[in-house]
Amino acid sequence: MLATPAKPADPGPGCTPELYRQVMGCFPTGVTVMTVSLPDGSRAGVTASSFNTVSMDPPLILWSLALKAPSLAAFRAADHFAVNVLAEAQHGLALQFARPSEDKFAGVGLVAGVTGAPLIAGALAHIECRITQRYAGGDHEIMLGEVIALSRDEGEPLVFRGGRFHRLTPH
Ligand SMILES: Cc1cc2nc3c(=O)[nH]c(=O)nc-3n(C[C@H](O)[C@H](O)[C@H](O)COP(=O)(O)O)c2cc1C
Repeated sequence: MLATPAKPADPGPGCTPELYRQVMGCFPTGVTVMTVSLPDGSRAGVTASSFNTVSMDPPLILWSLALKAPSLAAFRAADHFAVNVLAEAQHGLALQFARPSEDKFAGVGLVAGVTGAPLIAGALAHIECRITQRYAGGDHEIMLGEVIALSRDEGEPLVFRGGRFHRLTPH
């Protein structure tokens, strides 16, 4: 079910797409690859930095996927997905899953999660979710996921800021 928000107000004259991109680029994020597996055996995976936590009780997370993304159909057909939080050395995988391709999973080590979603080997953390709600969000669709299973490894995360990948350095 897709919840429909109220019609948004027009953006102010100062909110140009270029400034919007620059300002949002000031906010660093981690990098995830969202994965799904469908009953016909097909899989989809998308690099996403829009991931965030929503609620502790119940544990809920969200992310958003562009309406024009070829993988949207797979995420709409799925009941579950996995969040793969990339480790700092996995910037190659971040690029691999950020380009449309016949087989995005080529050469990627995978294990099946408890929900059946593919988990990327070597990721810093895996979060498997049941999709509980979908919201219209402008040119993206927001997916709300209830956390079903969690795991983490030692290591540092890959960071994205201003259109580039970075490493974390302690203050
Ligand atoms: C670091 C990074 C973060 C991204 N975050 C998102 C995101 O949160 N939502 C989204 O729709 N696309 C995001 N993208 C772009 C998608 O990964 C890209 O459009 C991808 O090709 C979509 O997969 P598809 O072509 O299989 O549909 C991001 C790309 C990069 C490099």
